[in-house]
Amino acid sequence: MANTILVTGGAGFIGSNFILQWLEAEQGGVVNVDKLTYAGNPENLRDADPARHLLVQGDIGDTDLVSCLLAEHRPVAVLNFAAESHVDRSIHGPADFIETNVLSTFRLLESVRAYWLELEPEARTAFRFLHVSTDEVFGSLGPEDPAFSESTPYAPNSPYSASKAASDHLVRAWHHTYGLPVLTTNCSNNYGPFQFPEKLIPLMILNALEGRPLPVYGDGLNVRDWLYVGDHCAAIRRVLKDGRTGETYNIGGCNEQKNIDVVNLVCALLDELSPRSDGRSYREQITFVKDRPGHDRRYAIDARKMESEFGWRPAETFASGLRKTLQWYLSHPDWVNNIKNGTYREWVRQNYAERN
Ligand code: NAD
Ligand code: TYD
Repeated sequence: MANTILVTGGAGFIGSNFILQWLEAEQGGVVNVDKLTYAGNPENLRDADPARHLLVQGDIGDTDLVSCLLAEHRPVAVLNFAAESHVDRSIHGPADFIETNVLSTFRLLESVRAYWLELEPEARTAFRFLHVSTDEVFGSLGPEDPAFSESTPYAPNSPYSASKAASDHLVRAWHHTYGLPVLTTNCSNNYGPFQFPEKLIPLMILNALEGRPLPVYGDGLNVRDWLYVGDHCAAIRRVLKDGRTGETYNIGGCNEQKNIDVVNLVCALLDELSPRSDGRSYREQITFVKDRPGHDRRYAIDARKMESEFGWRPAETFASGLRKTLQWYLSHPDWVNNIKNGTYREWVRQNYAERN
């Protein structure tokens, strides 16, 4: 199919939202290479038109597989969402993060470079490799520090952010050394449909509805800059279309929130949308638990480059995006129940037992 893109990690949270949005808004096909780890869920793509979307189970580090897919489908761009993405898991077991985020990304870059070199001149000029990264590579801000800009030095603090920083550096070097036409985006915390309930917002929603404690780490005053996933996906589409190769783009919600405020807002919305049978507030389930080791205090993104170059701004407010998100979880009990399998329960036991 003409104008095909190859997406990696497209069965995960952001990748699947991106593919669904792409199929709505753009022309052409999507080849989706996903290892289908615990975080990858083909159900997320149930509404993707099978005539335009092909899911292939595989590792981005599998050079033979990726090279075959590139040769067969001739994509105009590769978008790399695939990663191990959860900080707490990276603390419990960093090896998978180094394996996928560093080594497999390196192998992916090499497969893509070989493909790109063989393209006809016009196609080679138009080709793009877009690498999806995080604001966590910049480390932690003090309360008065300016938000992260594209020129903020990298200072990653967790195994997750260090592995993502390494991948960003590889992508940068493949541009600088080999001329690969790359784009990198560094985005703040996302929330929205299909997010795996190990991350703050879906974990709080599901725990609240199950009558379980809402575990807030430390004093609950850590700050994150929350962005609705659909806004992130729209920003990525824009960078892919108009971004300048070799550049990085910071994407954020202009929406700094303390964790405790986020949890209180989730509780207030649930009190309205799905009240507890005893008439009391979900707030009563909030429990402060032992902090995450090395917990970054504050992240904030300066997204002025996205705004000045592309006029991009988030469309959702936190209130509207959070309401949509809660409504999505409340109206998809099958998706939620399928997630809560033995592996998920084992993770929850492992991560939270030691905090109590
Ligand atoms: P996710 O964990 O929900 O999904 C990751 C996907 O990658 C899963 O489908 C998984 O099966 C797949 N995957 C993992 N290892 C793979 C491998 N070796 N080969 C192929 N597929 C593999 O993550 P997410 O939240 O959707 O994040 C997507 C990307 O966006 C990541 O690179 C992450 O670092 C970045 N990011 C996430 C956030 C956020 O708030 N979630 C914010 C900024 C940036
Ligand atoms: P998370 O969703 O894991 O994203 P990240 O660590 O990548 O920012 O966590 C968001 C914030 O919420 C972070 O400061 C840690 C905190 N948090 C809790 O307080 N309790 C929890 O159970 C989880 C998962 C996170």
